[in-house]
Amino acid sequence: MCGIIGYKGKKHPKDILINGLKNLEYRGYDSAGVALKNDDTIQIIKSVGKISHLEEKLNNEKLIDCNLGIAHTRWATHGEPNESNAHPHRVGKITLVHNGIIENAGVLREQLQKEGVKFNSNTDTEVAAAIINKYYTGDMEKALNKAIKEIKGSYALAILCEDDDKLYAIRCESPLILGVGKDEYFVTSDIGAILKYTRDYVLLGENEIVVIDNKGYKITKDNKVVKREVLTSKLTNEATDLCGYDHYMMKEIMEEPVLVDNLANKYIHNLKKLPDIKKYQHIHIIGCGSAYYAGMVGKNLFEDAGVEVEIDVASEYRYRNIIYKPNTLVILISQSGETADTIAAMRKANEHADTLAIVNVDASTIARECTYKVLIEAGREVAVATTKAYLLQVLILSLLAYRLDPDGTYVEDLKKLPQQLKVLLDKTGFYKKLADAIYKHEDVFFIGRKVDYAISMEGSLKLKEVSYIHSDAYQAGELKHGTISLIKDGTIVFAIATDDDIRDKTISNLEEVISRGAYPIYVGNEDVAYDHKIIVPRINKKLQPILVVPALQMIAYFVALKRGCDIDKPKNLAKSVTVE
Ligand code: F6R
Repeated sequence: MCGIIGYKGKKHPKDILINGLKNLEYRGYDSAGVALKNDDTIQIIKSVGKISHLEEKLNNEKLIDCNLGIAHTRWATHGEPNESNAHPHRVGKITLVHNGIIENAGVLREQLQKEGVKFNSNTDTEVAAAIINKYYTGDMEKALNKAIKEIKGSYALAILCEDDDKLYAIRCESPLILGVGKDEYFVTSDIGAILKYTRDYVLLGENEIVVIDNKGYKITKDNKVVKREVLTSKLTNEATDLCGYDHYMMKEIMEEPVLVDNLANKYIHNLKKLPDIKKYQHIHIIGCGSAYYAGMVGKNLFEDAGVEVEIDVASEYRYRNIIYKPNTLVILISQSGETADTIAAMRKANEHADTLAIVNVDASTIARECTYKVLIEAGREVAVATTKAYLLQVLILSLLAYRLDPDGTYVEDLKKLPQQLKVLLDKTGFYKKLADAIYKHEDVFFIGRKVDYAISMEGSLKLKEVSYIHSDAYQAGELKHGTISLIKDGTIVFAIATDDDIRDKTISNLEEVISRGAYPIYVGNEDVAYDHKIIVPRINKKLQPILVVPALQMIAYFVALKRGCDIDKPKNLAKSVTVE
């Protein structure tokens, strides 16, 4: 994970780097740092914790006069989050920031130590700086080309060399783009970090080196100049404004009705714009976290449409012995399109089958490398916990299922869905009250069957990740095979029961836990005699999850708010998990 940004232009880099880091904070936020450079000095300032701490520190220091700098926000992989492990790292003439993991850092470190290098941190990043420094004898490009051959793993580096006033960057498997402004250039992990200054960017390829000097930039690979198109991002800087909300999570939940409407309108009378998945007899669905849970909804919908589906989390799929049958389509679901395990699973699948990316970020690795792609068009999602992107992933899967099995009420219900969603989300007072009943608890369970189990998984993840309440989801019928022993007086159990075919079974399971003391919260279409219930309108089965999960997202939000949690940046998490 981690986020990096580098600047070379005519302005002082401080505000640009801090603003960039704030936009990259979703990638990790346990420590941060900047390096500023002019002809005489490289000034490095680091701090533990959020970017605001670093900003405060920079405001209190006398900064050198300069127009070149690099910065970093960290999600620790090697070494605990403290100042010495925070980036930038400096070894000899080289100062750099790094996103990714250097897999052979241990071996390289030992080798370099034998050669007399002394390390000041536990990081793999300092090893990368030492390797480049070792090969630097006056020609940085030569040194970088040699280092690329030695460093194994995934990395994007923004680099300064004491001897010149250039900004260097290299990338291998970790995302990195070059931002092109007027008389100024940027390198960054995510376009969102520089949207305030430019929307023009160049996608850097694997093992490419970019060198930025006063005249412009040059991209090379294996010493040969590479020409790359300058693209323009459709994103605007407003996407990162809170627009009056207290948290991005709430802002992003509230965007759902409009986004669902837009995406539905794009495809509903133009289903041919979606890949023709009818020609495949077997489907594998892969993702991590919420993307995987969106996939679980898809599995249920595709199976109901008569297609054989296998589903797995990407971190397992990449190492399992997968038997690929002819006519298999592998669907990769990812908001960021940069999740390391999902990328690895995609690359494995690409060797055996056609692949379909359901992604948000168009310029991402997964969007670029799959056979087909469908963009969910969620706009920028800033809150670490996904809400709108999850929902739009489910919408695309639902549209694909409809393509497989067109049924009567789908189009009508899809048209009504945005308005119904809006009504559901407008009941903030209701969710606050429910949150009051939940927030003091330390254990919560969600139960459901089939698609309701998929919904339970997402509801449970949302609650635990933002509120830190322990929460688990179980297939309703499975609870009595062990887990039921955890039910005690007052344990909250959400029962998701929207699927009419098995609704009564889930209700029976809920009764089993109620008779052991559980406190029920029912979620379904039928009114029931429980005190706490969320009743959602009954709509076409292929769309029903889209009208349930937002209510669970609202509950998670208000419970976290009551508990005083850092809602947009839950502890230990990062939005884009670019390490294995
Ligand atoms: C949970 C959450 C994560 C992501 C997961 C995959 O709220 O956001 O579970 O869904 O890390 O990320 P992407 O979709 O970017 O591959």
